[in-house]
Amino acid sequence: MRTQVGIVGAGPAGLMLSHLLHRAGIDSVIVENRSRAYCEARIRAGLIEQWAADMLVETGVGARMQRESMVHDGIHLNFGGGLHHIDFHKLVGKRVTIYGQQEVVKDLIARRLEDGTKILFEVEGTTLHDIGTAAPKIRFRHDGRADEIECDVIGGCDGFHGVSRPSIPSGVLTTYEREYPFGWLGILAQAQPVADELIYSYHRNGFSLYSMRSPSLVRYYLQCAPDEDPERWSDQQVWDELELRLSGVRVLPRGPVVEKIVAPMRSFVVEPMQHGRLFLAGDSAHIVPPTGAKGMNLAFADVRVLSKAIAAFYRSGATGLLDQYSQTCLRRVWKAQRFSWWMTRLFHLFPEETPFDRKRQLAELDYVASSAVAATSLAENYVGLPVE
Ligand code: PHB
Repeated sequence: MRTQVGIVGAGPAGLMLSHLLHRAGIDSVIVENRSRAYCEARIRAGLIEQWAADMLVETGVGARMQRESMVHDGIHLNFGGGLHHIDFHKLVGKRVTIYGQQEVVKDLIARRLEDGTKILFEVEGTTLHDIGTAAPKIRFRHDGRADEIECDVIGGCDGFHGVSRPSIPSGVLTTYEREYPFGWLGILAQAQPVADELIYSYHRNGFSLYSMRSPSLVRYYLQCAPDEDPERWSDQQVWDELELRLSGVRVLPRGPVVEKIVAPMRSFVVEPMQHGRLFLAGDSAHIVPPTGAKGMNLAFADVRVLSKAIAAFYRSGATGLLDQYSQTCLRRVWKAQRFSWWMTRLFHLFPEETPFDRKRQLAELDYVASSAVAATSLAENYVGLPVE
């Protein structure tokens, strides 16, 4: 089959790219190796920067988010025995939206199908061909038959483990990477909220985070060993440890744990994010540790830049914006990397740290909580830096 833009991956990056292209009158086809049900159930962070929430609304896919999400003015920092509120709205005039990534994915899939975009789920053996030419191709098997998409441009939106990045010839990409010596044990539980906004918490046992998905569904995380087996933790142990680390807050309302996972922590960037007619977007090009909740927001920023560059290409044949795609995205990507690393270092215990480092961390938290200048920097980054 033939389309203008072939997209690998039906996560936030691929779906939003297809959506923005459709609004510019450009056709795309999406291939995805998982099922629709899997994509719609895949739980990730649930925090949307203000510009990205605005983009969802302005492009007509934000109606359910507006009805069901929670809009937060700020976050709480918990350290030294008390809560300290950082009020983003007061500091920088912006807010963040709490709405699960899988809900965004559901809304985008529904809209793509309504608009008549083809999404081929459960494809197998996807490979990319001729990406160095003006006629790249995506080959795969679907419903037991070999198939091919011929297109002008490929969006590589298939995540960290996808086939897009490894399809770029060796020697082209430079990798910048940092692994962290810990992971996050995350739970989703049917319990009452413990606070009106998220709590990022520093404790001698390690970092913890209180987040939420809805008024009756809470999300908590605990810093743990990178290779921790989530099944080794009983629900009671998780609740006890959370209550200890969030001490000084209040007694946590407990409830049935409906999911328990361990997430690895990694910072990763490849440069450039493109080769020939293949353009990487989202996790296929970069990973951030979840501490700043930047993953989906970075994916949206990439595809916003990419969709504009592709639209300019079809309007005039000019490749200037496409040529600059990587450079444009990377300036913002690296700032989000810096912020995610900074938040991670601020709150987590690193094995090599000394009592000096603990005192320094507490001083930095106190500085952020007590200086409007320092808090404004956190706020500006947290609500999302400008795109482009
Ligand atoms: C989440 O709700 O899953 C979440 C929120 C904020 C973070 C990370 C994860 O920094």
